[in-house]
Amino acid sequence: MSGESTLIQELRALEAEALEAVEATAGADELEVVRVAYLGRKDGRISAILRRLGELDASERPAVGAEANRVKATLGEALDARGRQLEAAEEMAGILDEADLSLPARSRFVGARHPVTIVVDELWEIFRGLGFTRARGPETETEWYNFEALNTPLDHPAADEQDTIYLSGGHLLRSHTSPVQVRVMEGYAPPIRVLAPGMVYRRDTYDATHAPAFAQLEGLVVDEGITFVDLKATLAEFARRYWGPGTRIRFRPSFFPFTEPSAEVDVKRVYLDAEGREHETDWLEIMGAGMVDPAVLESAGIDSERYTGFAFGMGPGRIGMLKYGISDIRAYFENDVRFLQQFARR
Ligand code: PHE
Repeated sequence: MSGESTLIQELRALEAEALEAVEATAGADELEVVRVAYLGRKDGRISAILRRLGELDASERPAVGAEANRVKATLGEALDARGRQLEAAEEMAGILDEADLSLPARSRFVGARHPVTIVVDELWEIFRGLGFTRARGPETETEWYNFEALNTPLDHPAADEQDTIYLSGGHLLRSHTSPVQVRVMEGYAPPIRVLAPGMVYRRDTYDATHAPAFAQLEGLVVDEGITFVDLKATLAEFARRYWGPGTRIRFRPSFFPFTEPSAEVDVKRVYLDAEGREHETDWLEIMGAGMVDPAVLESAGIDSERYTGFAFGMGPGRIGMLKYGISDIRAYFENDVRFLQQFARR
């Protein structure tokens, strides 16, 4: 082996050893010891190797010198980098020394589902379990979908400008989610089992119990042989799953142009308290429902001799007010964080 390659190999071995020594240091003092040991001008180990350059032929010296410079530079950078690391660690240790780690962290409100969304999601989970799929329709509708296809003539009071918000060009803001029934029946063949949540709009004064925009949840089932028994059983099962096994439902005769017969549906919660005493709530009106009027099936192109169906519509906002004890509907719209953050998951 030539003298040249022996010195270069020694330099490389020294480099590896020195880099390990740098990593092993635990403080600025130790780092300085390592710097002097390897890079020191007089007693440093690299200097010691360079002093042996004299043993080599003049032609071999430049290559060894160049390698020594490379090792010095690499080592110098490693020493600086380790120095910065140790300094940062020391600073962090100082901060931790002064910090009171027993202080509780400040919690931040990062947002929550709106209470009406929470109710819609809960209702959806139940109906999904009963075999329903989700549907949606536009909030801007035509008179046809909002009224006429739903067996509601345009001289019906609901179609009056007093109640419905009309846009230009024969459009309006839907006053209920029932037009989604028609759109679903047009687009899909029975069997149909859908749930359609969405916002609806009415010319209502904004007060504790009314808002000009609110959420509705529409249900529609169409198939061969669907009867009022299916409607009652579905809604009774839904009510028990949502309000508890003791919940009772009651149908009161009513009228909607698009269902026949029609009913208002009430629920009464019957439950036991912690001492086992039975309690019951008043009857709460929660939705309108009925058998789909054959004229509506025909409007949507479904053979009413072969198919029957039922529909229902409820207000998740109203259900939320009952559930959470909200006495003023305007709380839903004011974006007051003190109200909304009560619904954040903790
Ligand atoms: N669309 C009715 C309303 O807004 C509710 C309803 C839906 C009634 C479906 C019967 C069947 O009041």
